[in-house]
Amino acid sequence: MLRRVNFYSICIAFGLSILLILAGSRYTDNNYYRPSPESRSIVEVNLPQLTSSSSNYDTEATIEKIFEKTRAKIQMEMKNYNYSFSGVSKLEDLLMESNGQPIRSIIISTWRSGTTFLGEVLNSVPGNFYHYEPLLKYDIIQIRGAPHADNALKMLKKMMLCDFSEMDDYFKYGKTHLHQFSHNTRLWDHCKFKKDLCLDAQFTSSFCKLFPFQSMKVVRVRLRLIKQLLEDKELNIKVMLLVRDPRGVMQSRQHRNFCQPAPDCWEPELLCADMVSDYVAAGRLLQKYPDRLIVQRYEELALSPNATTHQLLRFLGISPTSSVEDFLLTHTNVEVSGVSSTFRVSREVPFKWKNTLDFNYVEDIQDACKEAMNLWGYKVAHNASQMTSKDFYPLDNYTISQ
Ligand SMILES: *[C@@H]1O[C@H](CO)[C@@H](O)[C@H](O)[C@H]1NC(C)=O
Ligand SMILES: *[C@@H]1O[C@H](CO)[C@@H](O)[C@H](O)[C@H]1NC(C)=O
Ligand SMILES: *[C@@H]1O[C@H](CO)[C@@H](O)[C@H](O)[C@H]1NC(C)=O
Repeated sequence: MLRRVNFYSICIAFGLSILLILAGSRYTDNNYYRPSPESRSIVEVNLPQLTSSSSNYDTEATIEKIFEKTRAKIQMEMKNYNYSFSGVSKLEDLLMESNGQPIRSIIISTWRSGTTFLGEVLNSVPGNFYHYEPLLKYDIIQIRGAPHADNALKMLKKMMLCDFSEMDDYFKYGKTHLHQFSHNTRLWDHCKFKKDLCLDAQFTSSFCKLFPFQSMKVVRVRLRLIKQLLEDKELNIKVMLLVRDPRGVMQSRQHRNFCQPAPDCWEPELLCADMVSDYVAAGRLLQKYPDRLIVQRYEELALSPNATTHQLLRFLGISPTSSVEDFLLTHTNVEVSGVSSTFRVSREVPFKWKNTLDFNYVEDIQDACKEAMNLWGYKVAHNASQMTSKDFYPLDNYTISQ
């Protein structure tokens, strides 16, 4: 009996997907899908008409199907979620489309400091909408104030509220740089088949509002400016500042062709001035918003990914889920390439610079970064043999003075 029911539901699902594919193929030459509201109901009650010649209608129906499918998927994935962990009682409390308030988080860091990994850890939470590097269009610069700060912050805020209107530059950039969208896996699931969906402000805004968790990563804005977002009651956002040893950062940047010759990315002086500025800002902000800002060194995340992830999730008010455990298991194994201990791999990654950087270059970085390294607890290597020695452990304790 069960088998038979299953068989029929498979048939129905198959039939529906065929209809969807047919519908999808109807709008490929159509950039916009905004028919009048009346047209929607006609299509929905008369599914067979999808194959008719009026392609606008088909697209609208397809969009509705995407929304319905997504709602159902999120509900299923969140079935065992412990909402009390997030301070609410049910899914709707976290959904903008039901006037709820999502859990919003933002990673503030700089290039090559482990944000890709942490961003993906958070994106492994079910029902997460990942605003990946919204400021790519600014290219390789740091935003520390005028002339870009106002616009950039306005943009971050709007996106966190799922308002993608008046963001033509963002979409224009994404049109030729699809990685701006592809890291947002739940969005990309749909627009990899139909790129125009990702370029559509109205679709993106509505789709975004279906998700209980909203995460973002930003490597181009310094923490001092993020105060504005922390103070915003409507946003109700939590911030993670991710910091990494400047020698590790510079080592990693050498292998990225985007970095040179952009001074904000290539000059240790600028990196470390930003690290000092972030330290001062962290002190001030922690005093005012102790439960909204957390500071994390990349090295600790890499050395103990599980414990650190649990700690960060607790801070964000997100219950640990099996999907997060799975992500950590697979992604600490991926780099192992045959060696079974994830511990060993993690230990080596953050300190790779010790054995790959030339000591003269390390000295240059250390000279430029004396204050930053002292504040953030990174030990100076005094000569090449000390640097490469196994006994030299670069991490020291640090405290943030408030
Ligand atoms: C849900 O999380 C809370 C802590 O926020 C805990 O006290 C409670 O036992 C959890 N419930 C379940 C069913 O795990
Ligand atoms: C990860 O950390 C959590 C909390 O500290 C713990 O309960 C869990 O057993 C850990 N998982 C692994 C695989 O070590
Ligand atoms: C390198 O520095 C360490 C620590 O300061 C010191 O003990 C050692 O003698 C130095 N080695 C050389 C070759 O200068």
